[in-house]
Amino acid sequence: MSQLRHLLSAGDLDRASAIAILDTAEEMSSVNHRDIKKLPTLRGKTIVNLFFEDSTRTRISFELAEKRLSADVINFSAKGSSVSKGESLKDTAQTLEAMGADAVVIRHWASGAANVLAHSGWINGSIINAGDGTHEHPTQALLDAFTMRKRIYGDDSKGRDLVGQKVMIVGDVLHSRVARSNVKLLATLGAEVHLVAPPTLLPVKLETWGVSVHFDLDTALRQVQPDSVMMLRVQAERMNAAFFPSEREYSRLWGFNSERLAMLKPHALLMHPGPMNRGLEITASAADSPNSTILEQVANGVSVRMAVLFHLLSGDKESK
Ligand code: CP
Repeated sequence: MSQLRHLLSAGDLDRASAIAILDTAEEMSSVNHRDIKKLPTLRGKTIVNLFFEDSTRTRISFELAEKRLSADVINFSAKGSSVSKGESLKDTAQTLEAMGADAVVIRHWASGAANVLAHSGWINGSIINAGDGTHEHPTQALLDAFTMRKRIYGDDSKGRDLVGQKVMIVGDVLHSRVARSNVKLLATLGAEVHLVAPPTLLPVKLETWGVSVHFDLDTALRQVQPDSVMMLRVQAERMNAAFFPSEREYSRLWGFNSERLAMLKPHALLMHPGPMNRGLEITASAADSPNSTILEQVANGVSVRMAVLFHLLSGDKESK
């Protein structure tokens, strides 16, 4: 695979580079099961985790991934930094550059923030998008693909794509960077993607996405017989209007519950990127069922982020 400099979008990855990252994540996963879970790969590199928006899974798993690869890690949250005194993204980035950051993992509330940082010239290191507004979350899509491949193919996952897999993405697609990145990566890996949502929670120009669109979850489950169902969080914090009549109505029409679980094929996967609104888009009985991969997704996030850091930072700088 050609050397990647940044990871801003799932669209940055062609089939070969996506599979190379997933295969490296398999190697990292075996390291993560050893007693001593540490590699010297990024010794001497400095990585800054620059978080302007809250996170549990992504922030902690990037930090763990960086430490397991022996990088020096700096955690920066907008809360408690000079950003709260009005410091701009440019000045913050230039401060990190002056301190010699080799890579910046950025989460930001503004769509496009990671692209701005990558193309601004303010910083020379690699930029990894850890979620920007409603735009993209490429490492989430990679860990989701890794989780699917692992459940389907087990120890025989290496080199595999997702051709023949039917993946249903359900819920608040409009506000979901997870959905946008997954649609791109799943297409690259050959999966068939179905979106299911109320019309108010679907973006415009969906005809350019290369997906099938459904409005009725029960009908879609019966017709498609998905191999994986990915439930999306209802992102109330990004909603400035009423997108559905009530939570009760949403849960009844779009939530995943035991009845809908019973409609799935026996080994179908039930996924959620987290954090979950239990009782709204997913019930506790569904989230905690054997079909659920939710905690596997979290665990796989560490291996996948180690793989991304390895591919971005351990290669030949001349070819960047
Ligand atoms: N899936 C995800 O991005 O979770 P966090 O917001 O907790 O990082």
